[in-house]
Amino acid sequence: MSASQRLFIGLAPDPATRLALQNLQTGLVLPDTARQVPSSNLHLTLAFLGQTPVSRQGELLELLAGMPLLTGEILLDCVGEFASAGVVWAGCRSPVKRLDDFAVCLRQGLGNAGFAFDPQPFRLHVTLYRKARLSSPQLISPPIVWPLAAPVLFASVSTPNGPEYHPLG
Ligand code: 2AM
Repeated sequence: MSASQRLFIGLAPDPATRLALQNLQTGLVLPDTARQVPSSNLHLTLAFLGQTPVSRQGELLELLAGMPLLTGEILLDCVGEFASAGVVWAGCRSPVKRLDDFAVCLRQGLGNAGFAFDPQPFRLHVTLYRKARLSSPQLISPPIVWPLAAPVLFASVSTPNGPEYHPLG
């Protein structure tokens, strides 16, 4: 096994939410350059750690197990873009304080335990397409209901067909 892996912490959609996101992807009209995120890779990133020693994965799993429970649901009600990154995403028009607070708490825990992570502020989004442009933001009607569950530690594994995100633990 390699000594380090590219890790991130995120939320994985349940099967119904994954299917709804996949249907949303299929219904979007985007330029030919757009690359659809495989449905098995759909997720919501809370913190991106990057290359992290395999020897510290156990600590990360313990940290996640000690986090407060994430309950309830979020409503994905809009499609937007990070234009400079060519990313088209599904997200929420209004801030979701519970999830914002959770991401802050998680990142504090990571920092306190000496883990490095991408310091860009959390911005709730689910990447649907890369290398894409969106002519204008769109509403998702009815919204996609995503029941929240425990965060997952993922390894991003490079394959000839692109990255695969493997849940750990
Ligand atoms: P995303 O959440 O916008 O899709 C694995 O690389 C995941 O971590 C991707 O889903 C990616 O973007 C997210 N991520 C967050 N910060 C990242 C960074 N600095 N480098 C690479 N991926 C990052």
